Amino acid sequence: MTLEEKIGQMNQLDPSYDSEAKEALFREGRVGAILNGVEAKEVNRLQRMAVEETRLGIPLLVGRDVIHGFRTIYPIPLGQAATWDPELAEQAAALTADEAVSVGIRWAFSPMVDVARDPRWGRVAEGYGEDSYLASRMAAAVVRGYQSHNMAACVKHFAGYSASEGGRDYNTTWIPEVQLRDVYLPPFKAAVDAGAMSLMCSFNAINGLPSSANKHLNVDILRDEWQSDALLVSDWGSGMDLIPHGLCADRKEAALRCINARMEMDMQGNLYHDYLAELVAEGKVKERQIDECVKSILRMKYRLGLFENPYVPEEEPIAYSAEALALATEAVEQGTVLLKNNGILPLNNKEIQVLVSGPLADQQKEQLGTWVFDGEPEHSVTPLKALRDMGLKVSYEPGLQYSRDKRTSDFAKAVAAASKSDVILFFAGEEAILSGEARCRAELSLPGAQTELLTELKKTGKPIVLVVMAGRPLTIGKEVEMADAVLYSFHGGTMTGPGLANVFTGKAVPSGRLPMTFPKMVGQIPFYYNRLNSGRPCADDAVLMDDIPAGAPQFSIGASSYWLESTVEPLFPFGFGLSYTTFAYSGIEVTKNGEQIEVSGTITNTGMTDAYEVAQLYVHQCSGDLARPICELKGFRKIFIPAGESRTVSFTLTPEQLGYWHEAKKGYESCVWYATDKVDFKIWIAPDSRCQTVPTIISFLN
Ligand code: BGC
Repeated sequence: MTLEEKIGQMNQLDPSYDSEAKEALFREGRVGAILNGVEAKEVNRLQRMAVEETRLGIPLLVGRDVIHGFRTIYPIPLGQAATWDPELAEQAAALTADEAVSVGIRWAFSPMVDVARDPRWGRVAEGYGEDSYLASRMAAAVVRGYQSHNMAACVKHFAGYSASEGGRDYNTTWIPEVQLRDVYLPPFKAAVDAGAMSLMCSFNAINGLPSSANKHLNVDILRDEWQSDALLVSDWGSGMDLIPHGLCADRKEAALRCINARMEMDMQGNLYHDYLAELVAEGKVKERQIDECVKSILRMKYRLGLFENPYVPEEEPIAYSAEALALATEAVEQGTVLLKNNGILPLNNKEIQVLVSGPLADQQKEQLGTWVFDGEPEHSVTPLKALRDMGLKVSYEPGLQYSRDKRTSDFAKAVAAASKSDVILFFAGEEAILSGEARCRAELSLPGAQTELLTELKKTGKPIVLVVMAGRPLTIGKEVEMADAVLYSFHGGTMTGPGLANVFTGKAVPSGRLPMTFPKMVGQIPFYYNRLNSGRPCADDAVLMDDIPAGAPQFSIGASSYWLESTVEPLFPFGFGLSYTTFAYSGIEVTKNGEQIEVSGTITNTGMTDAYEVAQLYVHQCSGDLARPICELKGFRKIFIPAGESRTVSFTLTPEQLGYWHEAKKGYESCVWYATDKVDFKIWIAPDSRCQTVPTIISFLN
């Protein structure tokens, strides 16, 4: 290959921008990959230029933001995480790949595996929540799902993007090396171990160094430690961002910083296209560096079989198969979290009069959630339609037209309809555009006049079922108090309506569990379950704001770590979710088996309804070289237990799973290592991260 041909491979373009000017680039072999060509015909046209009109005939990689479905849209990734069912996510990814591949897309820019502890950050919607273990399981599953069905995964955003200061997108992150390795890197590692064919750099500066220029991340960790040969692509123009970041004076310098940090393909930045040849001629870049990058790109093309089969059939594409729609419905049922229920749910009397209200009850587009380029709203089945299709007696008065609507003019109609109804189903939340990239919030309350409308409806005395459809945890304490039952369904995708209707009527039992801590108020953020205890954990007698006497003197004895408005209680803890039945945990045993620890317990469905339970394995290291979290998830099982029956769950813990990263510094030198301390651990199985009712057992590593 000539130098120009190699550099061409490293250039990724969106052909829809300035398309005419770009045609020549395809014919000259100056493009290695595209993003955003979705029509099979168009993909083939561009592919033909690359394959038939260039000297080498190297096919293009065709990428797209296929994030939680292609035509059939599944719940947003945060909602998929709430299923605690990686196999379901894997199947959804496989069916998604079938749809996307059928129009010529062979590379999905997903999964996003950024562990996120701050719901203000709009991109929490795109990831799998706050826990590294849950995110790792989901990451590996989605990679397997796509790649077993001919579509390469692109794991993003490498790395540390989600810890942006203030929850503001693209903002700086400061992450100590041990925290990076303990918390943020494991899902990337899991995805790489699952065979992920590519990764994407992140936009943010991490500890002052953006990842497109970050040799430590891209070479030391990804290549040397993990031995990954996956392709590393920039994020959209993230190389050019080195200029506003304050790292580089101009684009040429940015190109140099990126290639020196082994950013292998430049997405829509034209940096390599414009400057790489010049940098080689000047002796600033070695051709060997370029060869390494091109090898990754060609390897991925070979792995996808593009050389044998670059074109896509132009017949009817695959979309909305019965299997996909059924799975999308199941994903809603399994990922919807029941947060409160005073017994009103399920609604098993078909004769009752139901008022459907709230701004999200019948919004085909909004229920799809963020990052939907190819899902078609006209295929969405809304809750209103699904309830009517079920034959329920339904009246509909939304009261508000969209989630940010502040007009109260329709309140009276909704209240009048409520007075004539037996139950109110109130669909609240956020429109799709309020979460996702660059959609960060400083307030996490329900937008617009939703709370006011709910307050008016409450005055009718009719029972209220609150359903929240949102891209993130919201601070809904007040609304939860007003409601008789609360379901949190995130943005559920195409089949939100049928999935929720099944849950309302008990045809499906909600089995979702929260993948993030729900704070009571924004000021608690960042608030995550696996935090350190501090030297002065919140005391049982912590005094709240209003209980401090006026003129109280300063004191320091007995002071502890909490917020005056809220102690350290979240609204709902990580892992939490109710069911239409109840479960009892018993006989939990922890035994040593050589190096390993075996944990088992019995879970009994003590109610009248068959249902899934999510048994969660937590550990706490009691002492050690560094302070360790109050608890950490190390395993989970989602199991179906018929009413009145019991099931045994068992887990094996290896010393490696109990280890953590250490760092030592001497001057500028720093060294990290992974170690296990030979100390006591508490190990328990519980229905959520706060549950204290299950006996904990002390065990040892030696
Ligand atoms: C986002 C990526 C996305 C890319 C391509 C960027 O703005 O950060 O997640 O894959 O655009 O559309």
